[in-house]
Amino acid sequence: MCGIVAYTGKNLCKDLVFEGLSRLEYRGYDSAGFVCIDKHHGQFNFDKEAGGSSPIQRLAEKIHFDGYTGMAHTRWATHGLVDTVNAHPHFNCNKAVAVVHNGIIEGHEVLREQLLARGHHVISTTDSELAAHLFNDEIEQRSDLKEAVMAFVSQIRGAFAFVFMLTQYPDTLVVVRHRSAMVIGVGEDEAFVASDFIAFADKTNNVVFLPDDSFAFVRRDSIELYDFSGRIVPYFVQSLDQKYIEIDKGVFEHFMLKEIYEQKRAISRTIGFCKMLGSPGIDTFPHHYEHWSVATEYNDSIWRQLGLSIEQIKSLRYINLVSAGTSWHAACIAQFFFEMICKIPTRVFLASEFRYMSFFPQEDSVYIMVSQSGETADTLEALRLINSYNVPTIAITNVASSSIVREAGGFLPMQAGPEISVASTKAFSTQLATLFWIANRIALERGTITLEEMYIAEEQLCVAAEVLESTIEMYKFRIIQDLAPKYMHYSHFIFLGRHISYPFAMEASLKLKEISYIFAQCYPAGELKHGPIALVDENTPVVIFSVLDELLYHKLLANASEVKARNGHLVVFAFEGQDELIGIADTAFVIPPVAPLLGPLAMTGLMQFFIYHITRQLGMPIDKPRNLAKSVTVE
Ligand code: G6P
Repeated sequence: MCGIVAYTGKNLCKDLVFEGLSRLEYRGYDSAGFVCIDKHHGQFNFDKEAGGSSPIQRLAEKIHFDGYTGMAHTRWATHGLVDTVNAHPHFNCNKAVAVVHNGIIEGHEVLREQLLARGHHVISTTDSELAAHLFNDEIEQRSDLKEAVMAFVSQIRGAFAFVFMLTQYPDTLVVVRHRSAMVIGVGEDEAFVASDFIAFADKTNNVVFLPDDSFAFVRRDSIELYDFSGRIVPYFVQSLDQKYIEIDKGVFEHFMLKEIYEQKRAISRTIGFCKMLGSPGIDTFPHHYEHWSVATEYNDSIWRQLGLSIEQIKSLRYINLVSAGTSWHAACIAQFFFEMICKIPTRVFLASEFRYMSFFPQEDSVYIMVSQSGETADTLEALRLINSYNVPTIAITNVASSSIVREAGGFLPMQAGPEISVASTKAFSTQLATLFWIANRIALERGTITLEEMYIAEEQLCVAAEVLESTIEMYKFRIIQDLAPKYMHYSHFIFLGRHISYPFAMEASLKLKEISYIFAQCYPAGELKHGPIALVDENTPVVIFSVLDELLYHKLLANASEVKARNGHLVVFAFEGQDELIGIADTAFVIPPVAPLLGPLAMTGLMQFFIYHITRQLGMPIDKPRNLAKSVTVE
């Protein structure tokens, strides 16, 4: 992962690259570094900061040198501790080459041995530093820079994006890309390089996305682009219609809280957007049900957007979802949507496992990649594998300019708006809304549901979004005043769910772990008796998420009773009318009933709000938890 921003041109670079770097904090915030070139003395000036809450900001404040060519890096540690030695930029022995790196160099142990044997002085424990030494060796052996890059990349395995600066070529940025996104911004007498366009979005909209397996020499007035065998690659400068919008917390103490409260609107924007694609010209919901008999309000532009024909939709026999983290939980919930609404067998894969399993391409199947950022390396690599078999792929992401969107056959953007808090909230709920809508839309196209049922489904989504927000208000003061101060003292939690509430319980368990650092474990409730029940005692709250299904509710009730019978502490998220479950709980959150498949969506706000306030009581850095990053661009 890590974020890279570089600049060469008519302006001093420090402020420009730091502004860009602070926008890339979502890629990691362990440490930061900056280097620029002092042309007169033919040397690098650099500095680094590591650890603490805002290394980028601390570094920007402390640096008092500047230059016309420079680069900065924000790190998410993979190899080596979080300290200033391991922070980028790295240099070769005589500081002729500086490098910043995103990705992982495979086999770096062997490379390190080779470099040490050749007399190099390697000071960090990173894989990245090795690139500076190796590249310098290649430059010294050849007079031609292009040949040196080719020789360098032929010795490097893994996934990487590098930017090199060389004292010998003070006006050139050498950019190398293999399976890790890099984009060049073309300005007037200036050029930017970054791992994400937003780093320089308000400076220029003219960009060149580096193709995979290519390298470029970027100067203020020219770009030379080559593939790894040295052939010139023609490039075109495209204009992106995307602005960077500075987002602040407004009246909220944390971005996470703000984003929890944004969910109802984000869901309604998402439904509105989906409806617009499904039926251009109609952007309001049909509240007058007598018009249902008009059966032509949905058209086909949605399928074009998804890169599928109506015939493909009609002949679909399998749906597959691939994702990671919170997006994987959304996909696991969506499995129930596709199977129960579309009646199509659906499988869900963890992206990090997918590439290493046997792959059986099926005819009449589609793979849906679900990713908030659209940059998660595991999901992207899984997509590349699936694409290589020519199986249709769709991206559901929140970032329209992302790599996954560019490489998938079609895509549907969620309308969550930028999510800043590392812990995902509104991206999760809008993923659920998008997947629920698309499941219904597929079912409508295949004649599995009627137009009337499609409208009802959209209304149900609106109701669930309403409940998501209103229940926060219902419990707000109790959570803040009584419950969060009480539950912050527990060091372990068990989460249980059944059927559709099981993946939701997994999401709750993850949320608690990632922001509060409290240990939490999640099980399907039926598994409790097969082992985890040994952990049940009065000091380990068991949190159960109910479902709107009579049979399953009674099964969950039995599991809850098993907890109480062992003197366990029971917290339930139940629906109105589930009185026995509510009655035996030590703490009960009671939620108005919604459509059964939307139970998790309706509970989302309250669950997040409860966990947010436990964490706030503990005084943790909620928006930027330790060791995490918003976008995980390494495997
Ligand atoms: C990281 C984030 C999680 C996120 C996961 C998948 O681990 O911290 O919040 O769920 O990546 O990210 P994606 O962008 O693919 O949804």
